[in-house]
Amino acid sequence: MTDNQESPDAEDTAPSGSATLPPLRPPCERLQCHKSSVCSRSYFVVVMVFFHVYIINVIALLFYVHYNSGQEDASRSRDAPSSNQRRPEPGPPPSKPEFLRDVSLTRIEGIRVGHVQRVSLVPGKVHEMRTLSMKPLLFEIPDFLSEDECRVVMQLAQLKGLMESQLMVQDGQEELAKELNLSPEEIFNLLDINQDGQLQLHEILTHSRVRDGIWLTPENLREIYDGLKADKDGNGLLSLEEFRVLSNDAFQRFLMQQGVKRSQLVRNSRHTWLYQGKGAHRVLQDIKARVTRLTRLPPTLVDLSEPLQVVRYEEGGHYHAHHDSGPVYPETACTHTRIAANTSTPFETSCRYITVLFYLNSVEGGGETAFPVADNRTYDEVSLIQNNVDLLDTRRNCNKSNLRVKPTKGTAVFWYNYLSDGRGWVGEQDEYALHGGCMVTHGTKWVANKWINIDPDYQRQARYQQLVSQQPEEEDDDEGVIVNPDTQSSDIHQDL
Ligand code: OGA
Ligand code: CA
Ligand code: FE2
Repeated sequence: MTDNQESPDAEDTAPSGSATLPPLRPPCERLQCHKSSVCSRSYFVVVMVFFHVYIINVIALLFYVHYNSGQEDASRSRDAPSSNQRRPEPGPPPSKPEFLRDVSLTRIEGIRVGHVQRVSLVPGKVHEMRTLSMKPLLFEIPDFLSEDECRVVMQLAQLKGLMESQLMVQDGQEELAKELNLSPEEIFNLLDINQDGQLQLHEILTHSRVRDGIWLTPENLREIYDGLKADKDGNGLLSLEEFRVLSNDAFQRFLMQQGVKRSQLVRNSRHTWLYQGKGAHRVLQDIKARVTRLTRLPPTLVDLSEPLQVVRYEEGGHYHAHHDSGPVYPETACTHTRIAANTSTPFETSCRYITVLFYLNSVEGGGETAFPVADNRTYDEVSLIQNNVDLLDTRRNCNKSNLRVKPTKGTAVFWYNYLSDGRGWVGEQDEYALHGGCMVTHGTKWVANKWINIDPDYQRQARYQQLVSQQPEEEDDDEGVIVNPDTQSSDIHQDL
């Protein structure tokens, strides 16, 4: 590409030691200029004028900057009369408090793909940790769990009982739509991601996944279009006119009539949660301690994270590509620090900074964990579904993923779902952390997830920790605080 393009004056820049070059001559001679052109007095005058204008511009700019910062300083001291001391350095932006710099989350270095580091996690044993990708920062540690530990975790999960990971239809969306009272034009506008006045296949597919949890393929969608006679001109796109005649839940009703199979859901598995606090089975507590050593994070952060999630996929089970935790905008709250949030917001995500995924058995066929865009040069959401190839579809297209990890009993993989903010705290979501569970073609697959929840808003995380530490050890009446057992870890629980 551009790197290989020859520049037109490449010959001029050839090394001077080359024997084939003619001897150097003065510039005027080489250019064969006349006195009246480049070397003339008028040329000199023009250059000097240009030079002076440039200098004047620079001086003016310096004055401007100086004057403006003076004003800022003045207004700052007006706003904060108690602190009339000038800061010696520009310092961090005001959104980050000073004390943040004392608290740093360790981030394991990947060095490069294939790099192996030896880590000490249990007495008398050394584990090898291999870097699988840099984007996301992803590692694999064979034999992280012993055979016995894998067996105990599966048995405890079975004893507790596993539930469907995803229910067939997600309620509440219809009510929300009615409440908002959106017109067809407004809904169309929301769906039209690229704002070209047409609904492309991928715009509808993405929407149906998020809204109904139903994973349509491009073929499914064409069947629906045919069944509902929605795409009148047959160009594969829905115009506003075509969209307007459809009722709000036309697609969903059509699908329900046909019957939705488990294989058509975003996720086809069963799972349960195992608490790892005081009183929990020794194996569960050991795993938590080992995860703390592995990630080198403060133990409190690991203690206050979600319980261990144990997942079982039957033959044909899958989990299409997803992010374990969403993007964080200034108004986004974290589920785990909700009780410490000052304001309520409709945007919430689980703030899972790290995912540690354990393979509890070796799968006979399929069931790899796929990272479709790991170490891609760029991330482009639109190109994930292109030309009828859906890279997010782990039933069909795992073979097109950049990286696949084979499930091997006892192996752990872990990755960061967020980047660093450059100051030792949680930064933006890492889009490359997109991953999914490929379809199990033979046998059963057992995995466990340990998520480490950290609020990217340091203050909120600190407030949350303070609140939790003030709560009495013994179970009290809840005083109206709603604790979701699925997302709140608690030492009070003595489950399994
Ligand atoms: C998950 C997940 C991957 C796998 O449970 O969130 O991504 O390989 N699992 O099962
Ligand atoms: Ca469009
Ligand atoms: Fe996941």
